[in-house]
Amino acid sequence: MFLPKSGLFGLFVVLIISSLIIIYQIQVLKLQDRLNSLELNHIEDTAALKRQEALDDHFIIIYNRVPKTASTSFVGVAYDLCKKNHFHVLHVNVTANSHVLSLNNQLSLAKNMSQWDSIKPALYHGHFAYFDFSKFGFQKPLYINLIRKPLDRFISYYYFVRYGDNYRPYLVRKKHGDTMTFDECVAKKLPECDPNNLWLQVPFFCGHAANCRKPGNKWALAEAKKNIVTNYLLVGVTEELQDFISILEITVPRMFRGALDHYLNSNKSHLRKTVQKQTPSEQTIKKIKDSPVWQMENELYEFALEHFHFIKKHTLHEKNQRVVYEKIRPKFT
Ligand SMILES: *[C@@H]1O[C@H](CO)[C@@H](O)[C@H](O)[C@H]1NC(C)=O
Ligand SMILES: *[C@@H]1O[C@H](CO)[C@@H](O)[C@H](O)[C@H]1NC(C)=O
Ligand SMILES: *[C@@H]1O[C@H](CO)[C@@H](O)[C@H](O)[C@H]1NC(C)=O
Repeated sequence: MFLPKSGLFGLFVVLIISSLIIIYQIQVLKLQDRLNSLELNHIEDTAALKRQEALDDHFIIIYNRVPKTASTSFVGVAYDLCKKNHFHVLHVNVTANSHVLSLNNQLSLAKNMSQWDSIKPALYHGHFAYFDFSKFGFQKPLYINLIRKPLDRFISYYYFVRYGDNYRPYLVRKKHGDTMTFDECVAKKLPECDPNNLWLQVPFFCGHAANCRKPGNKWALAEAKKNIVTNYLLVGVTEELQDFISILEITVPRMFRGALDHYLNSNKSHLRKTVQKQTPSEQTIKKIKDSPVWQMENELYEFALEHFHFIKKHTLHEKNQRVVYEKIRPKFT
């Protein structure tokens, strides 16, 4: 089997040409597919951006603030931004600062917040435990919150009611004039520094069930964890407030555009500091940490922290992630 030289060359040329044709056809197919794919969040012009954002105009965000978790700093950012970003911020003031809402008030709030269109998008904040809109037949709002190391929060609260803070220095707090340190209080086993009083963040996230309010209740802890993961858009930690704000800005730009920049550059948003805070002794810390209530509150904190870090890793640190719709059929013409 011997082909003449020219025949061999001819075969070679035919092979090259046919492979080129195949490659070309693959490219054409790929290009057609690219034309028929849509990138999520890819917005071409300002008119399209406006249309996209109009869809976010119905947002309801509920920030059921846990006391002494840097909530005032965050709310300050929201109040500063609301005019520029065209949304409303409202404080929900509950009689005697009760964290538990009556059933009729839960229904009224769910109904009013859901139907009050002219105030939307809106951020509501107040010191009340989580409650579920869907059981009243309304769409779930976007819940957000901050959580703090339980002992730090406890001590901060202890001194806050005695000395107030630099935010409203003129306000006389309920324990004003009481100079007892936290160490002395723990040593004397006084009721206000009883570790059972650490049971606060669990009930806030757990909600409106009787078990939520029983210090050390295991079901309450499990329920609080479940709500953090399934019913909260985002739960940040006080210690990483800046990242909390960054993630909110990326996720809900309609309301939080410019929030990080404002937080970093305004001098009033992170100034609230409890006056006269003393570091507790080793012995006091050990006593508190031996209590089952501290251990469960701490378990919730650690759980929320890990979840927050997970979201942070996949949101802040992977900003280049793109999501594309493709193989759309029938094709766009
Ligand atoms: C909530 O309302 C009560 C009664 O109107 C008022 O005394 C109190 O100052 C309000 N709380 C806040 C934090 O504004
Ligand atoms: C919600 O409550 C506020 C305050 O009472 C009221 O002004 C507003 O009209 C209510 N909105 C709806 C839709 O009921
Ligand atoms: C705080 O910032 C405002 C403007 O944002 C500025 O007018 C004011 O002088 C600043 N105050 C201090 C103490 O830096």
